[in-house]
Amino acid sequence: MRLTQRFRAMLLLSALFLVFLYSTVHKEVVSGAEQAPKRALVRQTAVRTPVRTQVPTPPKINVSSAFRNSIPENGAYWNRLLHSGLKHTDKAKDPLSRDPPWHHCRETNQDLMDTNVHNLASYPLLLQNFLRGMKCRSPPFLMDQPDKCGENATFLLFAIKSMPANFEQRQAVRDTWGRECLHDGGLRVRTVFMLGAASTDDPDLSALLQFEAERYGDVLQADFHESLFNLTLKINTFLQWTLDRCPRVSFIFSGDDDVVVNTPALLGYLLSLDSSKASRLYAGHVIKTASPLRDPKSKYFIPMSFYEGPYPAYVGGGGFVISGALLAPLYSTCEVIPFFPIDDVYVGMCFSALGVSPEAHAGFQTFDIRERDRENLCVYKKLILVHRRSPQQVKRIWRGIHSPLLTC
Ligand SMILES: *[C@@H]1O[C@H](CO)[C@@H](O)[C@H](O)[C@H]1NC(C)=O
Ligand SMILES: *[C@@H]1O[C@H](CO)[C@@H](O)[C@H](O)[C@H]1NC(C)=O
Repeated sequence: MRLTQRFRAMLLLSALFLVFLYSTVHKEVVSGAEQAPKRALVRQTAVRTPVRTQVPTPPKINVSSAFRNSIPENGAYWNRLLHSGLKHTDKAKDPLSRDPPWHHCRETNQDLMDTNVHNLASYPLLLQNFLRGMKCRSPPFLMDQPDKCGENATFLLFAIKSMPANFEQRQAVRDTWGRECLHDGGLRVRTVFMLGAASTDDPDLSALLQFEAERYGDVLQADFHESLFNLTLKINTFLQWTLDRCPRVSFIFSGDDDVVVNTPALLGYLLSLDSSKASRLYAGHVIKTASPLRDPKSKYFIPMSFYEGPYPAYVGGGGFVISGALLAPLYSTCEVIPFFPIDDVYVGMCFSALGVSPEAHAGFQTFDIRERDRENLCVYKKLILVHRRSPQQVKRIWRGIHSPLLTC
């Protein structure tokens, strides 16, 4: 008798326990589903934790007067955003206290845009999409590599802009200039690729990406729409990730996945810098006196009602290098500058606001080299970067410049 009673009590307890267990699991699933964006990729991806948004240091942001004065205070939408933002920053005690970091990545801002940009409908579609998404600055991560850099210092981090479908480009980089290793003198080089989310129209590559990320440990992916005008968001997400996951890095190279980099030449250049230059470096192919293209047929068309003013001196986004020491001040300065659709111009604006001028280096050939030099390995051997090359060309050039048979 007593045995049956005990048995019943145990049964009851286990049932209660099961009910409890189920309810907690269920809760988790529900809240997970609420947060998970709709794309299939997200649901299948195990790593969903967004990178912590670090409270940037220093909290006091100084925007150079040269930069303030270079941007006219007038009716153009971006100019208005900048100047009202700066006024707010100058007054605020804690200029960076804002909404939850990815709050703005889910809204469309249609009313806001219609109210502020009277001729929005006349803008190219790409620019309209940019405007709708321009307040989204910290999209949640779909794939992270939290232990990428470990505790040991990294000398150079290759932070490569890629896209989900570019498997071949990424592999060519890993096989050649982006191979992670310890170079002479104990210089640690690491590589990460930054991807946006695949579009629902694309074939579902999520399982392949997942495999690639596990196999190589170098794929980062954040939940934002891949687009030419979201490259600014891509680089900003990179800066944020590096601050958080790889803060002890001496230099960061940011570039495209279709360039060839002469890594030994780049390391040689970085080692040759004196310490004051090494701690304030923003180097590459400098574009000094550019201004917005006003031809609506141009890929980089910028309407007058969106932005008025020149572009700051900036370095070409195909590949450039910055000091790790500038990462934190750069990131917090960028926070008070509204996103601009052209990523390298935007980075130039942030540096101008920070008071750091770009350093020209003839080894960075972001607009490619002379036609007749394109097969000449001795030319590549002297350069640091050439844009743009197919994965096959990258491998051929890399092999060639390292061949013991090559005499220049
Ligand atoms: C850090 O460096 C030390 C000494 O060079 C080495 O023994 C250790 O394995 C490194 N740790 C990592 C995580 O790479
Ligand atoms: C950039 O991504 C955000 C978030 O996915 C999106 O709202 C925005 O429209 C995108 N911008 C462009 C130009 O596609």
